[in-house]
Amino acid sequence: MLEEVLGFLEPPRPESLMLDCTLGEGGHAEAFLGRYPGLRYLGLDADPEIQAKARERLAPFAGRVEFRLGYFDELLAAMGEGGEPAPRPDLVLFDLGVSMHHFVEAGRGFAYSSDEPLDMRLSPEAPRSAAELLAEEGEEEIARVIFEYGEERLSRRIARAIVEARRSGPVATSGRLAELVRAAVPPSYRHGRIHPATRTFQALRIAVNDELGRAERGIARAAGLLAPGGTMAVISFHSLEDRIVKRLFRALAGKAIPGSIPGPAEPIPQVGGAGSFELVTKKPVEPSGEEAARNPASRSAKLRVIRKLGDDVAAGPAGAGRR
Ligand SMILES: C[S@@+](CC[C@H](N)C(=O)[O-])C[C@H]1O[C@@H](n2cnc3c(N)ncnc32)[C@H](O)[C@@H]1O
Repeated sequence: MLEEVLGFLEPPRPESLMLDCTLGEGGHAEAFLGRYPGLRYLGLDADPEIQAKARERLAPFAGRVEFRLGYFDELLAAMGEGGEPAPRPDLVLFDLGVSMHHFVEAGRGFAYSSDEPLDMRLSPEAPRSAAELLAEEGEEEIARVIFEYGEERLSRRIARAIVEARRSGPVATSGRLAELVRAAVPPSYRHGRIHPATRTFQALRIAVNDELGRAERGIARAAGLLAPGGTMAVISFHSLEDRIVKRLFRALAGKAIPGSIPGPAEPIPQVGGAGSFELVTKKPVEPSGEEAARNPASRSAKLRVIRKLGDDVAAGPAGAGRR
């Protein structure tokens, strides 16, 4: 959704600062830096391998790009601490989730179609791998993770199969996990539109990297840092993420949160007064039919955009979400 993002995020000044919380391989960064010759860019990513790729790709823009390595919620929380002034970006972008690099090249077991160590950590600093989670947790907790983060209705059956399988040796590779999920589900499920292990893999990745908690804390913190008049765009890839973005944006804009959306896990952090916001997109923007056909991985993407009207104008948004 590059064109859509470019359309919504227009720098208000030639030397505006853009904060890209999920720099990845630098695809969005390259497009923005190429289009706006005065734009300054701050790119965050948890993954050192992917950051090295972005550094190479963005070398032509040296002097205008700064890189920070770490989980974005932690990096954003530390900004403005220790006497350093916090950046006040005019533009903020979150393109949540993982990149093709993780599925195809990383060798960390993100894909059910490969046989690699079952790691799934975006950052080597993350406390434990997916294999360790499956070795250490009980059947109940494994089922909860698969149900909540994978929205997998056969979570109990899959968790039972994992716990039985680990008695004969650790579930330590993506190949072994994919095979045992396949064997655990009924034959009808094996011939569905997606591989039967798709949801289980998504769930583990989310749990290992605390993706939902980090998204919630990171987006809230970035909203506080955003300069008055600034715009923030968030692209999510599954309904769990989109629900978080929708809820946070509505709370920031002082709108009622629909009953179908659960309240925030934590109160929305107040950062020097979160300020007042307006929703730029009332409904999420989805990829065009042409883009979805060209890039099937983009099919489930949803883009939401919010604008900050001013700092401290309304104290309301913080904690405005239902608990
Ligand atoms: C979908 S990719 C971004 C692609 C990027 N917009 C581009 O154009 O190349 C998401 C990136 O965010 C990173 N990421 C995901 N969650 C993160 C988090 N909580 N903190 C920091 N980086 C994160 C991943 O490592 C991945 O590189």
